[in-house]
Amino acid sequence: MILPIYTYGAPILRSRTQPVEQNTPELQKLIDDMIQTMHGAEGIGLAAPQVGRSERLFVVDLGPLVEELEAEGEKVPAQPMVFLNAELVRDEGEPTEFEEGCLSIPDIREYVKRPESVTIHYLDRNFEPVEARFEGMLARVVQHEYDHVEGVLFVDRISPFRRRLLRRRLRDMADGKVEAEYPIAGVPA
Ligand code: NI
Repeated sequence: MILPIYTYGAPILRSRTQPVEQNTPELQKLIDDMIQTMHGAEGIGLAAPQVGRSERLFVVDLGPLVEELEAEGEKVPAQPMVFLNAELVRDEGEPTEFEEGCLSIPDIREYVKRPESVTIHYLDRNFEPVEARFEGMLARVVQHEYDHVEGVLFVDRISPFRRRLLRRRLRDMADGKVEAEYPIAGVPA
């Protein structure tokens, strides 16, 4: 089932997520729905707050990018990936800049600086603990989604100058002036 995506200004995007304690059929259904929603919106990552939920959960699927990345020598695990109760262990390397977007902030893309690799601890969808180090595109996406479960959005990480230029568009979005090519929940009052 495709879920509507909450957009910039929705309080849930800023709320703290809660660790998932139990593997239930409802949780597995939520994971499937989030993967379907991400695919439907042609996104490469989606976090629970973006569909109005407070579980510490995000999903990633580099999908069509995998072939290209592997051709460039990046190792990419089987996709999609599910991250439950993720905790940052460390990030490393010179920060690199890359253009990011977000399904919760339609039509805005900005360069964001992030460390080039990240080690995180999480549970996969079978509740198996994993500690993994990601680099390149996967490190980028995982850090963006990890931010979501911490209530942080990529526009928080752009330069004050760029943010000033975006201020009006973001304010309009928070006022409900927002459209997307996928179902959105918008900004509930
Ligand atoms: Ni996002």
